[in-house]
This record gives sequence, structure tokens and C-alpha cells, in this order.
Amino acid sequence: MSTAPAPQKNLWQRLWSVVDPNERYLRGIQPQVVRINALESEFERLSQQDLQDRLRRIRLRVAEASRAAEAEQQKQIEAGTAQTDTAGLRRLRKELIAAEKAVLDEHLVEVFAAVREAAKRTLSMRHFDVQLLGGIVLHEGRVAEMKTGEGKTLSATCPLVLNALSGRGAHLVTVNDYLARRDADWMGKIYRYLGLAVDHIEHDSSSWQRQQAYRCDITYIANHEIGFDYLRDNYNSFNTNVLVLREMHYAIVDEVDSILIDEARVPLIISGSRGRPLESYRRIQEIVRRLIKGEQDFETKATTGDFYVDEKAKTATLTEEGQRKVEIALGIENLNDSAHIEEMHLVNAALRANFCYQRDVDYIVVPQGGVQSVVIVDTFTGRPQPGRRWSDGLHQAIEAKESVPVQDEQQTVATVTYQNFFLMYDRLSGMTGTAKTEEAEFVGAYEMPVVVVPTSTGCRRQ
Ligand SMILES: Nc1ncnc2c1ncn2[C@@H]1O[C@H](COP(=O)(O)OP(=O)(O)OP(=O)(O)O)[C@@H](O)[C@H]1O
Ligand SMILES: [Mg+2]
Repeated sequence: MSTAPAPQKNLWQRLWSVVDPNERYLRGIQPQVVRINALESEFERLSQQDLQDRLRRIRLRVAEASRAAEAEQQKQIEAGTAQTDTAGLRRLRKELIAAEKAVLDEHLVEVFAAVREAAKRTLSMRHFDVQLLGGIVLHEGRVAEMKTGEGKTLSATCPLVLNALSGRGAHLVTVNDYLARRDADWMGKIYRYLGLAVDHIEHDSSSWQRQQAYRCDITYIANHEIGFDYLRDNYNSFNTNVLVLREMHYAIVDEVDSILIDEARVPLIISGSRGRPLESYRRIQEIVRRLIKGEQDFETKATTGDFYVDEKAKTATLTEEGQRKVEIALGIENLNDSAHIEEMHLVNAALRANFCYQRDVDYIVVPQGGVQSVVIVDTFTGRPQPGRRWSDGLHQAIEAKESVPVQDEQQTVATVTYQNFFLMYDRLSGMTGTAKTEEAEFVGAYEMPVVVVPTSTGCRRQ
């Protein structure tokens, strides 16, 4: 085993390496690295066309195995031996992906050797043995811990090519647009040399560009971009023409500790604006604040003034006199007309804001993020509830009443956390400089063990 890292070890280190699960795992995959190395001289003699042909043949074999597995599943469904409820379909999908992976596993050595050869020819970079080890770890759906500067970018190329041969797309998820572009351009030379399509997506990419990029074999993209593509797809799911993200098959998450642990619970939210012009709250406020408070007689129902208040229900109602004043101020004939439903709504909100809700009782006005804001006070505990807003235009009406900036009415239309999003992948893996300390979380939340890959200096020393 000439390729094994062979720094001098004392007796204790040698004993420990027998029981340490990390060492045991590495020793288990090491023979594949030996076999990749053994192919090197043969692959050096292959032309570009030869290398591409080899990959194409593997692609066909995976497709064949996939079709066979699918046909078998179809038979089971028809025979009634396979369930087709949500859990059943999920299990079938899992089995299908496993059948495809079994073929990929058989060809791992050949594909990794081809990728290394392509990297040598296009980038003058030869994957170190530890980078091949890291690549195997990534293919196996684990977290590869490789120290900073060890070359994780190049490590990812082998498993990306291998898993792209399934025809379902392989994603490299980074933390920002800059890295997505840089790594796609840089490593792209390898993929194109091997006849694979690669692209990246960034914030300014159009829907069409995104769709094209996801159709490629390999796609580089930042986590928030792919998360929002998923949400937008779901928001638009009535119109399948605009689906941009086709499948969530295999992903390598770069800086995986920051994306899958630190940001795991961060919700991605798409919210739509109601589109009510903010200025109208101020215009209505100017009209409503001049109205005179009256009363309604409990028995005769006779009213005085422009409006009367039901303190308990926290509502205020216009009298005939009040309605006439509002109609004149707005320059409309009949506020009750269905054409003026919006104005009626705003007037009611403004009445409640002015005459049913009290500053320093129901709410306070305090600076938040640099602007004066209306913050709800919990009626039971008396505690301020920053972030909460009254619905249906009431919060905006109170903002207009207090002459603070009126904030747009937002409706949440779709939401997902990063954790739930990434769990939807058939196969997930990740890489980072530090992960071992968070292994329990990776295993607990994602079933991804962490493997510490040795440094390449250990390799070079021999
Ligand atoms: N096999 C190789 N041959 C030559 N140079 C290499 C090889 N692998 C990596 N490098 C070089 O090492 C440097 C670091 O690589 P890379 O940016 O991929 O590291 P990283 O592990 O992603 O680090 P970070 O944790 O900072 O993201 C790069 O400049 C790259 O060119
Ligand atoms: Mg990196």
C-alpha cells in the first residue's frame, strides 16, 4: 500500500488507530484509492474522446439499472405488494436511488481516475490521494472534514461527476454567489473536458437561466438562492411550466457546518405585498381624526356625533352624519357602494386605531432598527412584543395615527427552514474545515457521520 499516509507513529498511536472509528473507516476506503492510482498510467494514454466514451457508457448503465428497477417497482405496484401512499412512494424512490447508486459504486474507481486525468490536463492539478479519499467520503453521503486550504474545491469534482452520471443532476451548494461563480468557472474546465454540462446560478440569474443551469449535469449555487428557487416553485406550483428546480438528487454542501448547523433553523420566507398604497393610510387618518365621538342609545338605537365605540369589542362604527362627512372628504357618493370596499376597510381600521387602541396601553412607540415603530404590548403580561403586527391594516392605521413610517402589509406565502429543505435531497453530503465537534448534530439531524480526512502533507512526506 504505497499510497497510504505513513508518518512515523508511536506505539500508542498505532494501537489507537486500530480502534479509532475514523481510522477504521479510512482504512476501509483506502483500497479504492490504491485502485484509482493503479489506473493512472493507463488513463494517461487515453484520448479525450476515450475518456468521454467511458463516462457515456457508465451513464447508460445507470439508466439501464434505473429502468429495470422502475419496471420492477411498477410490477409490485400492480400486484399490490408495494404501497403508494406518501410513505410508500418515498420508500420506492429511496430504493430506486439506491439501485442507481449501486451501479455508481461499481464505477467509482474508473470515474475518479478519469476526473483526476482531466484535472491534470486542464488545470495542471493532480488530485492528492487525500483529495480522492475526501471525494469517496462525499460520495458516501458523509461530512468530510478537511483543513482549510487542503483543496476541498478539487475534492468535490470526483463525486460530482460520478453522481451526475445518474442524469438527475448534482449540486454544489456554497455560501455565496462569488464562490458559486468562482468554483464553477474554475472546476468547469474539468467537467467540460469530460463532456459534462456545468453552470452556476447567482442572485441576478433569470428564471430561464436558472432552469437551464439546473438542467446541467452539475450546478454550483449559493444556499439562499437554491432555497428560494424551491419556495418560488412551490408558490407557483399551479403552473408547472415555471418550475426551475427539477430534482433534488445529490448535493455537496460546502462550509457545511455554517449552512446545516448554524443556519439550520433559519426560515426562508417568501412574502407577497398586499399592494395597498401606503399613502392611503395617511389620507384616511387625516379625515378620521377630525370626526367627533358620539354615542348610541342602548334602547332607541338613536346616535349622536360621527361615530360611536364599543369598548369591549374594540370596534367603532360611523353614524349617518359621520359617513356623510367621510364621503364629502373623499369626494365619493356612497361609501357603502361595493366599489369603495377598500376605503370602507381603511376607515374602519383608522377608527379603531384612533378610538379603540391607546398608546402606552395597547402599544408603545419606540425606535426599532433606526425607525420609530409601533410595538404591540401583550394585554395579559404587559410585555412588548416586537416583531408581532396586527393584521388587516390595523397596524398600518396605528402607524399613520402616530405619524411613524407606515410599513407594508406582508403576507407569508411560503416558508421552509434550511434543515427541512436539505433533508429533501435523496443524497446529501458536506465538507468543511471544522465539523468533528458538531458530529452529534450532523448525525442526529441529517444522518451524516463526520470523517476527518488526513492532511496532504502526510501524503507528500512519503
Ligand atoms: N491537487 C492539487 N494540486 C495543486 N494545487 C492544489 C491542489 N489541491 C488544491 N490546490 C490549491 O490549494 C489551494 C486551496 O484550495 P481550496 O480553495 O480548494 O481549499 P479549501 O479546502 O476549499 O479551503 P477553504 O477552507 O479556505 O475553503 C488552491 O489555491 C488550490 O489551487
Ligand atoms: Mg473552500
